[in-house]
Amino acid sequence: MNSILFSPLVIGDVTIKNRVVLSPMLQYSAQGGHVNDWHLMHLGKFAAGGVGLVFCESTKVDPRGCSTTNDLGLWKDEFIEPLKRITNLIKANGAIPGIQLSHSGRKARLALPWEGRVPLAECLGVDHAEPWELIGPSAIAHSAKYAVPRAMTLDDIAFVIEAWGKATERAIRAGFEVIEIHGGHGYLIHQFLSERANQRTDQYGGSLENRIRFALEVAQRVRQSWPRNKPLFFRVSAVDECGWTIDDSIVLARALKQCGVDVIDCSSGGMSDVVGSEAHSPYSYQVPYAEQIRAGADIQTMAVGMIVHADQAEQILQNGHADLIAIGRELLHNPNWAIDAAQKLGIQQPFSHIARVYAFWLEKRARSSFGKPSTWQNGIGSGPKTSTKKD
Ligand SMILES: Cc1cc2nc3c(=O)[nH]c(=O)nc-3n(C[C@H](O)[C@H](O)[C@H](O)COP(=O)(O)O)c2cc1C
Repeated sequence: MNSILFSPLVIGDVTIKNRVVLSPMLQYSAQGGHVNDWHLMHLGKFAAGGVGLVFCESTKVDPRGCSTTNDLGLWKDEFIEPLKRITNLIKANGAIPGIQLSHSGRKARLALPWEGRVPLAECLGVDHAEPWELIGPSAIAHSAKYAVPRAMTLDDIAFVIEAWGKATERAIRAGFEVIEIHGGHGYLIHQFLSERANQRTDQYGGSLENRIRFALEVAQRVRQSWPRNKPLFFRVSAVDECGWTIDDSIVLARALKQCGVDVIDCSSGGMSDVVGSEAHSPYSYQVPYAEQIRAGADIQTMAVGMIVHADQAEQILQNGHADLIAIGRELLHNPNWAIDAAQKLGIQQPFSHIARVYAFWLEKRARSSFGKPSTWQNGIGSGPKTSTKKD
């Protein structure tokens, strides 16, 4: 059996060297929307650790869309130059730099996670320019704790769609090779999808066809600026706590495919505080969504959520349930997960995914200390023992 996890994936003109993806993870470390050395270190180390596609965190297309004061932004040209340092570092380490573009809508303006994530009272925006206004499809708060957003006018909708387009153009100039539109976790696009959050009576509300309109128009606008030969991902909450179903997601994924989306990133939840996406999450808990959307919409999918072990990830791909494996917290725990997984799966030249300055010494150590390299050259299963038990 050949490893799929360690085989390349070609989308358009972009070749991702393996199927291991750093899932977008907010660092709550930006100031005024700007990246700093933390982001350089954070993202650079995953590229150095052999990850194929490194996603920069949820980056906001509009300052009103920031979830906290410390979110990253791409709403101004001045954000471009410092991001180039990061994309250059990722590429220099053989990985593909991706960025997730997002707007939090009515779930914006929160305290940092370690300060309780409580909604902040009215205050100045992230760039300190103007009051931080919450907007959403309807004037309905996310929960009793949250402020009521202002219902977006048609002009607001057009403005935010255009902001996604402009941020895409900046992402190109910053050197990103993959864009992911964040359409899940209860944020603005998901709010439009949801019957609970969206009670509009115009062309953006009511029927499923109307509720998916905003998502499709964002995808079309991003695609208009994003070259056809570059991969476009879209993250969905495949199901949520407030009535959005897997069948709805399949309808959405089919329509997104028509708009030029290449990969659906299959997460879940975030539409209510009652049951969060991180509640009760056993191994592979969201993989069935990736499987069903892949089959139902005939589109490539990325699986995410408690995928922790090398053989677990490999099996998801071998089963045909997904095309890519996104990993979040396990990569925080072990940024060299990909190097480790390559050895556990017994792939040939397990260090070929990392920089020579590390690979040279690790190969040498393996030959001299752990036996012949041939133990790693006989395909999956013949290498070091793999197990679903964490070691
Ligand atoms: C610190 C942290 C920050 C996150 N930030 C984002 C984000 O910016 N965008 C997003 O779509 N999901 C975000 N997530 C969710 C992850 O991308 C991922 O879907 C989730 O952690 C489940 O995968 P895991 O079990 O491998 O961690 C975040 C998760 C964590 C732990």
